[in-house]
Amino acid sequence: MLGFGVDIGGSGIKGAAVDLEEGTLASDRFKVLTPQPSTPVAVAGAVAEVVAHFNWQGCVGCTFPAVVQQGVARTAANVDSSWIGTNIETVVGAATGLPVHAVNDADAAGIAETYWGAAKGTRGLVIVVTLGTGIGVALIYDGVLVPNAELGHLEIDGADYEPRASAAAREREALSWDKWARRVQRYLSALEALLWPDLFVLGGGVSRRAEKFLPLLALKTPTVPARFQNEAGIAGAAYLASGLPPRYRIDAAAPAQQVQHLAAGQDKAGTPSGPDPGPSASGG
Ligand code: BGC
Repeated sequence: MLGFGVDIGGSGIKGAAVDLEEGTLASDRFKVLTPQPSTPVAVAGAVAEVVAHFNWQGCVGCTFPAVVQQGVARTAANVDSSWIGTNIETVVGAATGLPVHAVNDADAAGIAETYWGAAKGTRGLVIVVTLGTGIGVALIYDGVLVPNAELGHLEIDGADYEPRASAAAREREALSWDKWARRVQRYLSALEALLWPDLFVLGGGVSRRAEKFLPLLALKTPTVPARFQNEAGIAGAAYLASGLPPRYRIDAAAPAQQVQHLAAGQDKAGTPSGPDPGPSASGG
């Protein structure tokens, strides 16, 4: 089954069809630049351009780089502040003529990494951190997402640490990998001390170069690069928009560290399972 996801970022808006079984892209990505100023009407028009490129018909999963509650943007750290209070699903729905499901970008990435990626099979608390223009954080416990964590704005030394440890900070300040890794270390240590995760998954475009900074980190928590890098948001949003049930089930008999991942709505034998096979993930 195919779905469709669009990732709205501070600099680009990208979309692709997604194979909802594998979590992989089923088409090339098509990208347009995020209009500046990134007002709701301008961004919705850009999303419509991306969707029209594929002639997609069906529900569109749409990531947004801010808090999203019931489709409404509540913050706007890296987009125009006129988004605050705007219903993303209504505005993008009007521009595309299609039903839209909106979700925080890090939460969408967290879902993709949990269902198909680097956190698949991990029991306990997984923290997916996306390092990009901002810092996005998804909290997933035994496959269940706790949406809108906003821990990218954790205060360290009395100030929001996002502008210091984001991937954008490395570029803006022309930091060496070593210097930047020290900041990422500081940030992840703070998260670790507060939340004691079982796994960190580091995503965002910079995870493509994980070998440059991951070996420089010394954390208690096992830390791995994201599988989907920058495509996680598209895949996660497409799945959440599809209306399919959460794609995992905890198997009590499985050894610790294992969550049994099953094809949506199926048990191990491939037969349809009951209406609610276990704790369910929320779309955020
Ligand atoms: C926003 C988050 C978002 C993250 C990554 C932060 O500035 O507050 O909502 O997930 O950037 O885009």
